[in-house]
Amino acid sequence: MSQAKNVLIIGGAGYIGSHVNLLLSQKGYRTIILDNLVHGHRDAVQWGTFIEGDMADTSLLSRVFEEYEIDAVMHFSAFIAVGESVEEPGSYYKNNVARTIDLLNATVQAGIKYFLFSSTCAIMGNPVYLPLDEKHKRDPLNPYGWSKFMVEQILQDFESAYGLRHGILRYFNAAGAESKARIGERHDPETHLIPIVLEAALGKREEVGIFGTDYPTRDGTCIRDYIHVCDLAEAHLLTLEWMMEHDASNDFNLGNGKGFTVKEVIDVARRVTNREIQTRETHRRDGDAESLIGSSEKAKAVLGWIPKIDSLEEIVSSAWRWHRKVEDLGGEDPKNG
Ligand code: UFG
Repeated sequence: MSQAKNVLIIGGAGYIGSHVNLLLSQKGYRTIILDNLVHGHRDAVQWGTFIEGDMADTSLLSRVFEEYEIDAVMHFSAFIAVGESVEEPGSYYKNNVARTIDLLNATVQAGIKYFLFSSTCAIMGNPVYLPLDEKHKRDPLNPYGWSKFMVEQILQDFESAYGLRHGILRYFNAAGAESKARIGERHDPETHLIPIVLEAALGKREEVGIFGTDYPTRDGTCIRDYIHVCDLAEAHLLTLEWMMEHDASNDFNLGNGKGFTVKEVIDVARRVTNREIQTRETHRRDGDAESLIGSSEKAKAVLGWIPKIDSLEEIVSSAWRWHRKVEDLGGEDPKNG
């Protein structure tokens, strides 16, 4: 099997990209991280070569492709907040679609054959059946989901036209942090449930708003499938290896197959942190699907991918270690220690 040695990680200073960087580096890949630091954190790049720059800067990209003899591109650079995408669709389509096309054109021009793309279960919309497998119909509920769905289509077309092989990885709800808590989840502003709940446990927020209690679920709040970020990282490695071995494209849904309501997540966080977490029930957030639970049977069968951390307690505990560490450091560079 040929092995791509040099991987360009676009958005590698972000949450999922930095965990993939860690794993690839541990496995002997040479990683080059390109990030414009609009949402990424410089201190999250602790492995590989960091280049501050933009994926739509095609002259920078062609220099990077040539200088580092890039074999594969992994693309993590996207705007990801569902609610914000409803309010600001233009910036989501521009960043997530238009700028990705610039990146894809540059990738093809450089003769690179492998491209991995971070997609999302949000392309499916409200489920017709659960768990959601790769064949489920696509019906995004928000511009974020549409932007990812559009890029999935563009990737099919780039394969037909130019032979660019793609790996499409549809995440359910990424959560947790690596075992030594050197990197973790940090968004500014934070919109994701688990970090928000942990910030409340730390006293950095007064309360957690529960967005909607009238969904047709067991306690009226939305159900999500939380998957540990290190398990997601492993799926990227396995997909890249599969693509090179088979010289082909593929797509995988990546979740744990278990759904938790918003209230259940908060209860788990109370147990894990042993702290009080105040909540306030409020109206639904625009663009939210009621229930998203993944089937990862295909990833298991094709890649042999088995999530190693499948209990929500463990996932929240790993995120808690990270949040406490950042807190202890007063929000400073968390890498030492
Ligand atoms: N929620 C709250 N209160 C909060 C934050 C979130 O009740 O303060 C609820 C949301 O309404 C939703 C659930 O918690 O029902 C999870 O919300 P997140 O914002 O944590 O995650 P999303 O499910 O909206 O979106 C995330 C990623 C997307 C990804 C998607 C897949 O942001 O990139 O998971 O489900 F596509």
